Amino acid sequence: STDPLVLFMPSGKRGRFPVGTPVLDAARSLGVYVESVCGGRATCGRCQIEVQEGNFAKHKIVSSLDHISPKGPKEERYERVRGLPEGRRLSCSATVQGDLVVDVPQDTVINAQTIRKAATDRVIERNAAVQMCYVEVDEPDMHKPLGDLDRLKAVLAKDWGWKDLLVAPHLIPEVQKILRKENWAVTAAIHRDMESSRPFIIALYPGLKNEAYGIACDIGSTTIAMHLVSLLSGRIVASAGAPNPQIRFGEDVMSRVSYVMMNPDGQGAMTAAVRQAVNDLIGKVCAESGVDRHDIFDCVFVANPIMHHLFLGIDPTELGQAPFALAVSGALQFWAHEIGIEVSRGARLYTLPCIAGHVGADAAGATLSEGPYRQDRMMLLVDVGTNAEIVLGNDKHVVAASSPTGPAFEGAEISSGQRAAPGAIERVRIDPETFEPKYRVIGVDKWSDEEGFEEAAKATGVTGICGSAIIEVVAEMYLSGLISEDGVIDGALAARTPRIIENGRTFSYLLRDGQPRITVTQNDIRAIQLAKAALYAGTKLLMEKQGIEQVDTIRFAGAFGSFIDPKYAMVLGLIPDCDLAEVKAVGNASGTGALMALLNRDHRREIEHEVSKIEKIETALEPDFQRLFINAMALPNKVDAFPKLSE
Ligand code: FES
Repeated sequence: STDPLVLFMPSGKRGRFPVGTPVLDAARSLGVYVESVCGGRATCGRCQIEVQEGNFAKHKIVSSLDHISPKGPKEERYERVRGLPEGRRLSCSATVQGDLVVDVPQDTVINAQTIRKAATDRVIERNAAVQMCYVEVDEPDMHKPLGDLDRLKAVLAKDWGWKDLLVAPHLIPEVQKILRKENWAVTAAIHRDMESSRPFIIALYPGLKNEAYGIACDIGSTTIAMHLVSLLSGRIVASAGAPNPQIRFGEDVMSRVSYVMMNPDGQGAMTAAVRQAVNDLIGKVCAESGVDRHDIFDCVFVANPIMHHLFLGIDPTELGQAPFALAVSGALQFWAHEIGIEVSRGARLYTLPCIAGHVGADAAGATLSEGPYRQDRMMLLVDVGTNAEIVLGNDKHVVAASSPTGPAFEGAEISSGQRAAPGAIERVRIDPETFEPKYRVIGVDKWSDEEGFEEAAKATGVTGICGSAIIEVVAEMYLSGLISEDGVIDGALAARTPRIIENGRTFSYLLRDGQPRITVTQNDIRAIQLAKAALYAGTKLLMEKQGIEQVDTIRFAGAFGSFIDPKYAMVLGLIPDCDLAEVKAVGNASGTGALMALLNRDHRREIEHEVSKIEKIETALEPDFQRLFINAMALPNKVDAFPKLSE
């Protein structure tokens, strides 16, 4: 007779196991990741699974609750004391009695709640770098003079299979006391992603320690975003963001480099500021979720190259000038404590690799998240900030570059520009007959021509135009004939509408006649043209490197991408021609990449490997860049057609 078949979902891994095999052992032997802290003693509850009932014809398997052993005394005790959700079983206690379809609950689902407008819900399979291992250590014996720590290592090898264990130095003086506190029962936090590839005991607790957390953090020039995650369940327990306090040293990254160059202690001050902000943010996510910051054992960071260097205490001056040399491009790992991050004393800190001088670990995070290298269609991935980071590729080849878009897309250098915040105009439409505008304001749930708008807008005020609306207003002005292909406001139209006003030698468009008065000036349009030309030229350069005329799909990462309408981005020629249904905003994809690297250490090797293969293009050194840039100043472009736009 053949042994029962066990199929694990969602991975689909399957195998045959003798009757009586604990489901946890079956999972392990197939490489299905099921958490366990107590080592199968039915006390931690981390190994929960669910049995699916029914005839799974596709898999030729009939699964039934009768095919799993009934709850034994240990599992019943756990249920009585700690409670088990309906349908859940402890896989360390439940054994295989017949064919089974077993669901391994995956709690880490990245969805719209976590990430604005995520393209799809996605499950991150767990394989964290830190594992919690409960053991009962042999008591000392005068006849076997083996040290306490050595007996601890021996039982970790016997019960959990850890070979060649190393110990974090700060723990060594503590071991004896901790072992004796709960009668030789301890939980060791083991980190198994060290450069040495030897597992490390990084923390030790008396008795059963059934909690372990990690943080995934994206240090942006403007905002620092953080997730606090349970490494045992995979659940995101809190997320928060805070402004990057380095803003007081300079709005954008380049002005921060200048600050370092001009002030002897500039780098030290900025490094201290960002580390302090990270510590404050850890305090915030911990307070929100009731987690003790000392239970954080692993930290993953992504950042653009300059933020990356400043966070690590590295002078970024070299990044301010050609050849834009990174001090370090590879992934790094060290003790979080070494740079003053206030978490567990044994916590590790991992930074994703940087791709190039202006394409940072944040772009690597977005690349890991969106995975152009995992599919055969040509994917364009752009993250727009002061520098646009551009990645283009498929499973055959990936190229990357950055392009100096400047801060116009963020509302800076625009006469009425501002950051996206309540009171900012975020959507604009212009009537092509009358040239009358209507607009929407962040915080007001109506268009300006709807009843009750003025009343509702009183609370927030109308304060300026944010990046997404600048794109829309320029595109709408172009579509309604207010500006030419060269981006010049048509002064002759002043005779037809009071909305076109003379402004010295040029003209402006009056978007709102009130307090404050909001206009779009010729200079504003120039600033947008320069920014979009830089982005497009960078993209086009990469397309030429790939030898393609058309991209298959476009992903906008970052806050900017979440708000802009793809149609308007294409009307302006910000992005190349593409099926509009294939243009998607993916929110903070860099942060998602950090989360993936935190929850599954295989993703670290994956992105390290992919980044090493990416072809890096330096736009500043490319003779073609200037030609592409000049073509891209026109709306939408001087030479390139946009056939999908007219479809
Ligand atoms: Fe701890 Fe099953 S492994 S309860």
